[in-house]
Amino acid sequence: LAFKERESLYIALSFARDFFVKNLQTAEGKSIGLSYFKERGFTPTVIEKFDLGYALDGWDHLLEAGKKAGFSEDILLKAGLILQKESDPNRKYDRFRGRVTFTIHNISGKPIGFGARILTKDKNQPKYINSPETPVYHKSDVLYGMYQAKKAIRDQENCYLVEGYTDVVSMHLSGIENVVASSGTSLTEGQIKLIKRFADQVTVLYDGDPAGIKASLRGIDLLLEGGLNVKAVVFPEGEDPDSYSRKVGTEAFQSYLKEHSKNFIGFKIELYQDEIASDPIKKANLIKEVVQSISKIPDPILRSVFAKEAAQLLEIGEEILHTELNKSLIKKQ
Ligand code: UTP
Ligand code: MN
Ligand code: MN
Ligand code: MN
Ligand code: MN
Repeated sequence: LAFKERESLYIALSFARDFFVKNLQTAEGKSIGLSYFKERGFTPTVIEKFDLGYALDGWDHLLEAGKKAGFSEDILLKAGLILQKESDPNRKYDRFRGRVTFTIHNISGKPIGFGARILTKDKNQPKYINSPETPVYHKSDVLYGMYQAKKAIRDQENCYLVEGYTDVVSMHLSGIENVVASSGTSLTEGQIKLIKRFADQVTVLYDGDPAGIKASLRGIDLLLEGGLNVKAVVFPEGEDPDSYSRKVGTEAFQSYLKEHSKNFIGFKIELYQDEIASDPIKKANLIKEVVQSISKIPDPILRSVFAKEAAQLLEIGEEILHTELNKSLIKKQ
């Protein structure tokens, strides 16, 4: 029975994907959804590759089409496609309305959920509405874009990690296919395990804003703890991979990634370089932060190699760095 339910959920989610994709070709879909994607520079090729679509503006377009196609309200509810009214649980309505849709696939390419972006500047509504947890969608085990990226991740032996749906799509437009998104939530162990199935190296490309930098620092430590080789890029203030690639163009974007990919030590130094130049206390804090990150590395030999590099880059004695490192390793035990 459990197997049958999962199968019905997959079928319902594929139906919804098809529905959203087809909506993009309706009069409303063309004038609102398709024109939005075009404005962002999304081509028909990536629209198709990522199953991008449009949820019509109205309360029950998907609900009615789904029922007509033979899906029960119960299955549509369990798939996260519809909601029930709090005041009257018998009344159901579409979760995604008047938004462009990003289909979330599992690694074999089956739709398991959606992210839906608002098209107005209305600050009272969330920018994205996402599918909830369901029996087939465990957010903490999913990375957006992995289905489209997995082959390139293996070939390139590197996985770019971005924050958002549009960053993934834009990077494909820039000819970079080894990219997945953590979708704004903090990175999990399950997601790190998923990456490790395809590559040993991750390059973190989070947004150049305080939230993105904070998430990068946290993500880097988790990735190091997971035994991955970690690189990171700092983007100019206010830019994310999508905005920056559109701003400077494909070639300049690709060179930016090459030139600014630093290991975690270089990343931290770049992040704090202005402050540490004039403030020894800030520099001491940076050294402690770097030591903290090194202590996450499970392999003692690699740890020692990075300790040596950190001593050189930070211009501090290797012995004191090792002493600090041993202190934080003992604390961890
Ligand atoms: P961002 O706010 O950086 O959005 O959130 P974005 O991806 O750059 O989107 P655009 O360019 O403004 O269209 C990064 C990611 O966090 C999740 C989404 O996955 C988004 O892509 N997020 C953000 C949400 O789930 N809900 C939100 O309300 C906002
Ligand atoms: Mn679960
Ligand atoms: Mn952001
Ligand atoms: Mn962003
Ligand atoms: Mn963006």
